[in-house]
Amino acid sequence: MTKPRPTESGPPIEPVYGPDALAGWDPADRLGDPGAYPYTRGVYPTMYTGRPWTMRQYAGFGTAAESNARYRRLIEHGTHGLSVAFDLPTQMGHDSDAPIASGEVGKVGVAIDSIEDMRVLFDGIPLGEVSTSMTINAPAALLLLLYQLVAEEQGVPAERLTGTIQNDVLKEYIARGTYIFPPQPSLRLTADIFRYCRAEIPRWNTISISGYHMAEAGASPAQEIAFTLADGIEYVRTAVAAGMEVDDFAPRLSFFFVARTTLLEEVAKFRAARRIWARVMREEFGARDPKSMMLRFHTQTAGVQLTAQQPEVNLVRVAVQGLAAVLGGTQSLHTNSFDEAIALPTDKAARLALRTQQVLAYETDVPATVDPFAGSYAVESLTDLVEEAAVDLMRRVEDLGGAVAAIEHGFQKAEIERNAYRIAQETDAGERVVVGVNRFQLAEEEPYEPLRVDPEIETRQRERLARLRSERDARAVEAALTELRKAAEGTSANVLYPMKDALRARATVGEVCGALREVWGSYVPTEAF
Ligand code: 3HC
Repeated sequence: MTKPRPTESGPPIEPVYGPDALAGWDPADRLGDPGAYPYTRGVYPTMYTGRPWTMRQYAGFGTAAESNARYRRLIEHGTHGLSVAFDLPTQMGHDSDAPIASGEVGKVGVAIDSIEDMRVLFDGIPLGEVSTSMTINAPAALLLLLYQLVAEEQGVPAERLTGTIQNDVLKEYIARGTYIFPPQPSLRLTADIFRYCRAEIPRWNTISISGYHMAEAGASPAQEIAFTLADGIEYVRTAVAAGMEVDDFAPRLSFFFVARTTLLEEVAKFRAARRIWARVMREEFGARDPKSMMLRFHTQTAGVQLTAQQPEVNLVRVAVQGLAAVLGGTQSLHTNSFDEAIALPTDKAARLALRTQQVLAYETDVPATVDPFAGSYAVESLTDLVEEAAVDLMRRVEDLGGAVAAIEHGFQKAEIERNAYRIAQETDAGERVVVGVNRFQLAEEEPYEPLRVDPEIETRQRERLARLRSERDARAVEAALTELRKAAEGTSANVLYPMKDALRARATVGEVCGALREVWGSYVPTEAF
């Protein structure tokens, strides 16, 4: 592990690893067994020898019908779990016909305005037999309820539903930006979701606490896990403060990290993250259920490391990154398509991405050994070094008053931006090689024909919305929205129950989020120092 170089403007950007980082390292204590506390070696005793990780390809674009077709093709090609990408208007709680939505409808994901779109999205897909991840944050409660409503129409009881909503608004304030409400009402909504799922959808993973987007914004491995786990601590504190027992909701928390091409450090990062979280849950929150201490996570290969130059080289990068995730013990994996730095993936590129996972799972011998790097001096010492740096950063967040207070100070954002600047400087100087970009370039790039998204999507989606509004019972919708506002104005009622009634009456995503904006307001970011 090369020591981080101090920059002209101040101390080393990445936390300096203590000189005695390996002092007192007792393999028996810090390593443990697979499936046993502190889970350094993986959360299940048998890991992939018991069940391969879930091959879960993130997908979604255009209308619900187009995305439904892509999901069915992915299931035919052998994907295990679904992973829904929503367009920005949906993620920000706006309808496709809102002025602010213009130009974004169906662009970076599927447009979902109402229960009618959700019904089309999962048409012909048995929701009692698949696990579905939904990358949705501020309006996560709405999409979860729409999923449950469609499952009810399929005759699938809620207790059989499995899947995940990302529902991690804190990282949206730090790195991704699809927030709606201020932090406190957002955390109230998160606690309501935890309580609702405990009562109604017990096998649902209520949150995917994400480091991926911070990594994509430039976070180092230590920053990625430190700021993610600090967010996790904030969510646990919120739910405990709302009166929940930690073992009643913690088993259904999950995480989401990146896998970079620096394979050894990434394997160390995943192992360090499991060990820190296990200790935090047992020692700070007094968790007794082993499932409360297990850090189960999804991994996506690093989008920022994909290049538009010589795009086929990305197939090699994604294979190495996917291997890092598997060697690091991921529970679920998305491998990026090689053409994603250029445009939405073509069907062929999406299939190749999945085939990459299938080669790792069925042609290599990696899944046959649990935590193959256990005992490796390089990986065990890297695990300790990354853990040391992450704990140091978590302590700095704590000194500022916890994740929300640190966000309001702009701390995480500033730290990540400093590291992003260092990466950019090293890349520009050629110290950090990007094959095809600053070394081994082609004199002339070969042409590549990307996937084209139908520009008529926005018009078609607006027509669907106009028809829905003309056909539904407007009085029933307004009455349901009034009940939702009342629940949001109070502090004790769980807002998901009136929210579900409104969505069943065909209130739109924009109308439900609009009712909550009226009560809770919208978040305005503070300027970072
Ligand atoms: N031994 C015993 N049991 C095992 C086992 C083993 N070896 N392996 C698995 N199992 C069991 C598990 O206990 C589980 O049972 P349960 O549900 O009854 O507990 C079942 O088999 C399924 O296993 P996992 O829960 O490990 O796997 P899943 O795939 O179901 O869940 C997860 C994985 C990480 C917990 C879950 O939260 C998940 O799927 N997350 C996905 C998140 C995701 O896809 N995010 C995409 C984000 S895209 C994005 O944001 C980027 C964009 O912005 C660019």
